[in-house]
Amino acid sequence: MLLIENIGVLATPQGTLATAESTVVTLKNAYVLCDNGKIVEIGTGKAPEFSCDRLDANGCLVTPGLIDAHTHLVFGGWREHELSLKRQDVPYLEILAQGGGILSTVKKTRSASLEELSEKALGILQEMLCLGVTTCEAKSGYGLDVDTELKQLRVTQELNELQPIELVSTYLGAHALPREYKDDREGYLALMEALLPRIKEENLAEFCDVFCETGVFSADEAERILRAAQKHDLQAKMHADEIDPIGGTERAAGLGAVSVEHLIAATDAGIEAMKNSGTVAVLLPATSFYLDKPYARARDMLQAGVPVAVASDFNPGSCPSFNLQLAMNLACWKYRFTAEETLNAVTKNAAAALLRADRLGTLEVGKQADLVLWDANNLDYIFYRFGQNLTKTVIKNGKIVYMKGL
Ligand code: NIG
Ligand code: FE
Repeated sequence: MLLIENIGVLATPQGTLATAESTVVTLKNAYVLCDNGKIVEIGTGKAPEFSCDRLDANGCLVTPGLIDAHTHLVFGGWREHELSLKRQDVPYLEILAQGGGILSTVKKTRSASLEELSEKALGILQEMLCLGVTTCEAKSGYGLDVDTELKQLRVTQELNELQPIELVSTYLGAHALPREYKDDREGYLALMEALLPRIKEENLAEFCDVFCETGVFSADEAERILRAAQKHDLQAKMHADEIDPIGGTERAAGLGAVSVEHLIAATDAGIEAMKNSGTVAVLLPATSFYLDKPYARARDMLQAGVPVAVASDFNPGSCPSFNLQLAMNLACWKYRFTAEETLNAVTKNAAAALLRADRLGTLEVGKQADLVLWDANNLDYIFYRFGQNLTKTVIKNGKIVYMKGL
């Protein structure tokens, strides 16, 4: 048992469903009792005399652990050489069309061993934990061949056991068309489809995602892969409207996708379709920043009743930062989100985008005890002090897994 006492402000969304409204409950002078990895009691005032380990929060802010619902965690190499191309305004899709971009990371991921990929991703996860992230989605998609896609997924599976952050695995075989299939789209899609039963059998992923974009995969192709994935009991996600709105969002919503992600160029029809299907919009403001693109119409989505999650999109190309706090700051400035809307977007709604809102994303009795203690006395302060990591202590599954300075 662990008692976290003397909490100045406990701020948390509530419930088990993704919502466009963000009613964050704040309790002053609170305590939280955790047992067996779960929250068993929340109260205010002086904590009762439980016989258990005690953690003095010293009057600080406590929130649910942060959930990063969209990352490309496992990959070989980095792509700093693209910086000079970006400076010359060479478009992201043109770098890809020239065999760079995703395809250059594919080369490095294919040639890296499972151990190398694992060691690198483990280092990243350790840093994410210090930023308050307690759950993280991880997509494959830098293999684009059977062995390397499986290698990436296996790294995620192994890392789930090796460190405290809960990983949620997504198969993204349709991330780009590899060079060896450039004249055989059908052959590639069939190959990636054929991998689905094996992924399911070995429990290597829960979700399947497709990059639906001009010059990558069309809405028809994306729909085909996701329908096949659903037949094998993988839940659908889609990268759509990142650069051009080519109809992916509407298709994803039509097949009941759990989330559509990016949505920078989302149309009214796309927003309407997500609203009707209850799909979560996973927005990635740090990618808009790094690609120097517009910001998604987040306010329009909330107003239409679409629940919004905010994630990092960490990857070596369009967002080489895994700092979810940076994405949160950008949500505040660029989406004009309130602190409460942003918190909802990186906790409860992010949990819903990973089908875990019954268990994660809020601080309520019965939920998993994943908490962040902040070097802050109120919620606004963590958005105000941008560029600083204000995480003080992180608790995962009822255990202290990070303490600043230790
Ligand atoms: O989410 N858009 C597609 N995939 C990633 C970028 C991958 C890369 O550039 O390596 C994204 O932005
Ligand atoms: Fe992405």
